[in-house]
Amino acid sequence: MKKEGHTETALHGRSSFSGKLGYVLAVAGSAVGLGNIWRFPYLAAKYGGGIFLLVYLLLMLTFGYALIVSETALGRMTKKSPVGAFQVFGRTLPFRLGGWVNAVIPMLIVPYYSVIGGWVTKYLFAYLGGNTAKLAEDGYFTDFIADGFQAELWFLIFSLAVVAVLFAGVKQGVERVSKVMMPLLVLLAVFVAGYSMTRPGAWEGVMYFLIPNPENFSWMTVVAAMGQMFYSLSIAMGILYTYGSYIKKDVDIEQSTIQVEIFDTAIAMLAGLMIIPAVFAFSGGDPNTLKAGPSLMFITIPKVFASMGFGTGAGIMFFLLVLLAALTSAISLAESGVSTFEDQFGWSRRKSAMWMGLVIVLFGSASALGFGVLDFVSLLGMSILDFFDFLTNSLMMPLAALATCFLVTRVVGLDQMTQEIEQSSAFKRKKMYCFFMRYLAKACIVIILLSSVANVLGWISM
Ligand code: TRP
Repeated sequence: MKKEGHTETALHGRSSFSGKLGYVLAVAGSAVGLGNIWRFPYLAAKYGGGIFLLVYLLLMLTFGYALIVSETALGRMTKKSPVGAFQVFGRTLPFRLGGWVNAVIPMLIVPYYSVIGGWVTKYLFAYLGGNTAKLAEDGYFTDFIADGFQAELWFLIFSLAVVAVLFAGVKQGVERVSKVMMPLLVLLAVFVAGYSMTRPGAWEGVMYFLIPNPENFSWMTVVAAMGQMFYSLSIAMGILYTYGSYIKKDVDIEQSTIQVEIFDTAIAMLAGLMIIPAVFAFSGGDPNTLKAGPSLMFITIPKVFASMGFGTGAGIMFFLLVLLAALTSAISLAESGVSTFEDQFGWSRRKSAMWMGLVIVLFGSASALGFGVLDFVSLLGMSILDFFDFLTNSLMMPLAALATCFLVTRVVGLDQMTQEIEQSSAFKRKKMYCFFMRYLAKACIVIILLSSVANVLGWISM
């Protein structure tokens, strides 16, 4: 488990995770969140179903794997969070930028993450109030997010909880609760997925999600899958440097990476199997619903529950567990921002937490209101929330990943990297790792970056 109160100068005596399992659980805990349950299914539905899944899996096993291993090893090597880790190797501008682009991303994600967290909270309370049928009505969700007061209110409730935890420093308590709840979430997800897959008409959705169909491929499939891979595994945002800096030399980086990837993907696929078949069973596979984007989970899941005998209970359980997964992730994201402030500016915890809170409220409110009173604002053709999501996942994370790649190949060197990794494992995938870091990774990132820019500027339509 991560311990509080580290500073960049505490080179010696930096706290460690208690054992290997503790480390895997902590990383898996930060990986599993709204990214798996909310974001993955809507992207898979939108960008081609099975083909999206295939591209996602391929990217994760090669590219994602190489990046996780790199970030963790760099963290362990330097015993520092990203900004500090980059500066161990150099103090010139590129090193500063490399560290900071990693460190700023979580600060930009947590505000809009909290907006979604607010939606989840709202649904939980609506189920507690027994509004199961009403939640399943068409248009319920769109009306809710268009209502500025409601959207802002629930966002503030969620973010208050996050900020309160930052101030009180009870993060570990929350994590302990979430470790107990996580297995429950898995069980419930298996059950709901089973139910949803066996509805009449749902099988078509199962096929759509699992069987790759090249006709559904578009270049955006790759762009979206890569962004999602970063997001879901918490890659390219400094988190894994920080976690890596807490582990001892005997934690097998290679093995723990694989374990985290399997766990994270299993949950994402379960969520896909809950949500996508439901689109086919309850909305007849309507292409508009399939492409609903961020609202997909909130539109389809209530329909599943409304059709059950005990839907209210299931709804309460489901949204409670998702809320917990969202809370722990939001807290870790915010916590990473706070420790960047503490370490880099020497601010007190209170001051850092206050600034982080301010960032959350400001950017988050803009995202929350972007579907209502601020819906005239369109940033590059996107709503404010989508814009922040795009900015971080499609632009900044590739840049952060690129910075890590350059650090690994040009500065640290693959030799030193492999030495670090071999301290704790046989490193069976060394060849693949080196090949990927040396040649493919950078080229992939640059192509993806250029295409996402070209896409928003309307130069190519994908
Ligand atoms: N991976 C998390 C998810 O799937 C989101 C996330 C990204 C995150 N970066 C993080 C969570 C850092 C905790 C810490 O929802």
